Amino acid sequence: MAAMTPRMTVPRFTALKSQRRRISVLTAYDFPFAALLDQAGVDAILVGDSLSMVVQGHDSTLPVTLDQMIYHAEIVGRAVARALVVVDLPFPTFHLGPAAAVANAARILKETRCQAVKLEGGIEQAGTIAALVAAGIPVMGHIGLRPQAVHQLGGYRIQRDGERLLADARAAQDAGAFAVVVECVPAAIAAQVTAQLDVPTIGIGAGGGCDGQVLVLHDLLGLTVGPVPAFARQYADLRTTVTQAVAAFCRDVQAGDFPGAEPRS
Ligand code: KIV
Repeated sequence: MAAMTPRMTVPRFTALKSQRRRISVLTAYDFPFAALLDQAGVDAILVGDSLSMVVQGHDSTLPVTLDQMIYHAEIVGRAVARALVVVDLPFPTFHLGPAAAVANAARILKETRCQAVKLEGGIEQAGTIAALVAAGIPVMGHIGLRPQAVHQLGGYRIQRDGERLLADARAAQDAGAFAVVVECVPAAIAAQVTAQLDVPTIGIGAGGGCDGQVLVLHDLLGLTVGPVPAFARQYADLRTTVTQAVAAFCRDVQAGDFPGAEPRS
């Protein structure tokens, strides 16, 4: 368990880049896992709209609603004492213009204990990022593969347009983003983007040259139902652990071994 360190704030998070301290970020959607991640020492917890896929069982991130994100973010926010907590703005809460984005993001900060929002997009979202930052709402950018644009991109594909990626990253930073997620981008391009930004890059499927790494918790724990991205590293096999534990319980109940003899008082 990590020693108690001061609460991670947005400025502290951004400063990790100049300290050359690699940054760890994981997703969480509920109280027990958020508390465990916090106690284990992760720098930031993302209430990702991956919730739609790994918790709700949809085949994309498009169906999850703002109310559902807020429901989970409020639970996660209460569980976390130390890490920075960032919440994804779901589709299409920031696509209808800066005023709508500020109203929606403000609900997240007002109704949860979370500290920042994340939104997908670079150049085309710069105005919205600037409006959010002007309203005092910290924003994490997200460039490269943008899962909310899966239909436009034609699938979950590696994004290889280096010039565009660099321009998107710069636009997000210049608009005031305190960090930028870089998803599914060749390692060399992600490293180049990282070198050119003053704010940290948080990679997912973007090689080891980013300032930090983020994974979907269910991929890391071996809990994901369905295909797991090739870049994810599975650190545990909780599907097997859970399946075996439940099967053992069922066997014990059927055999009359559970409950055992009444404990003596
Ligand atoms: O929703 C999510 O979990 C994300 C991460 C994959 C970065 O956006």
